[in-house]
Amino acid sequence: MDKFNIAIDGPAGAGKSTIARLVANTLGFVYVDTGAMYRAVTWNVLRLGLSPDHTAEVIAATERMEIRLAPGENGQQVFVNGQDVTLDIRSAEVTNNVSQIAAIAEVRRNLTVKQKQLAANKGVVMDGRDIGSHVLPNAELKVFLTASVRVRAERRYKEIQDDRTDVTLEQLEAEIAARDRMDESRETAPLVQAPDAVLLDTTSMPIPQVVERILELCRTEVGGG
Ligand code: DC
Repeated sequence: MDKFNIAIDGPAGAGKSTIARLVANTLGFVYVDTGAMYRAVTWNVLRLGLSPDHTAEVIAATERMEIRLAPGENGQQVFVNGQDVTLDIRSAEVTNNVSQIAAIAEVRRNLTVKQKQLAANKGVVMDGRDIGSHVLPNAELKVFLTASVRVRAERRYKEIQDDRTDVTLEQLEAEIAARDRMDESRETAPLVQAPDAVLLDTTSMPIPQVVERILELCRTEVGGG
C-alpha cells in the first residue's frame, strides 16, 4: 500500500508527539499534532481576554480564527491569523485551560472538520485523543499509547525544566492526572481507546523501540512502510 493514515491517541505525556513525528519522518508522511490545534484555540481565547466559561464567546472566536499548521525544522509550527504561536501554545496558562476549551462540543466539531481535511489525501500521522475513535475512524492503523502517570509526569518535568522552574514533580503529576480525568470524562469525544486500536504501554519502552514497533505494525497490519 502506498499511502495510508495512522491515528495515534493517548493521554498527556505518553510520548505521542515525539513518536508520531519520528514515524511520519521515516515514512515520509505528514505529521499533524491535533493537541496543538486545541492549544491554539485556547491561546486565542486567552489573548482576547475571554473567559473559558463563556462558551458562546469562545465558539464565536474559534469560528473567526484561522489556524495553519506548517512543517518546521523542530517539528510542527502553528500559526493563528498568520502569527507564529508555536512556543506560546506550550505556556502553563494554555496548558491549564486547554482541557476546558477542548470539552466544548462546537469547538471540537470545528477542529474535527479541519483535521479530516488535513488527512483527506492520506499519508498522515495524526496524534490526539479522539483520532481513532472520531476524527479518522477509517484510519488504516490505530495505536493507543499509554504510560504510568508517574513516568508521564517525569517526562514532562524534564521537558519544561527551562521555563517552569517553580513546578515540582508532584505538582506535575497532579496536573496530568487532573487533565486525564477531564479528557476522559467529557461528553463529546472523550479520550478513549478505539476497539480496533493496538495498545502500546511505553512506561518502560524506549522511544526508538516504540517507533520500530509501529513501523512493524505498518508492515504487518497495513502492508506499508
Ligand atoms: O496533546 P496535548 O497535551 O498538546 O493536548 C492538549 C489538550 O487538548 C489536552 O488536554 C486534550 C486536548 N485534545 C483533545 O481533546 N483532542 C485531541 N484530539 C487532542 C488534544
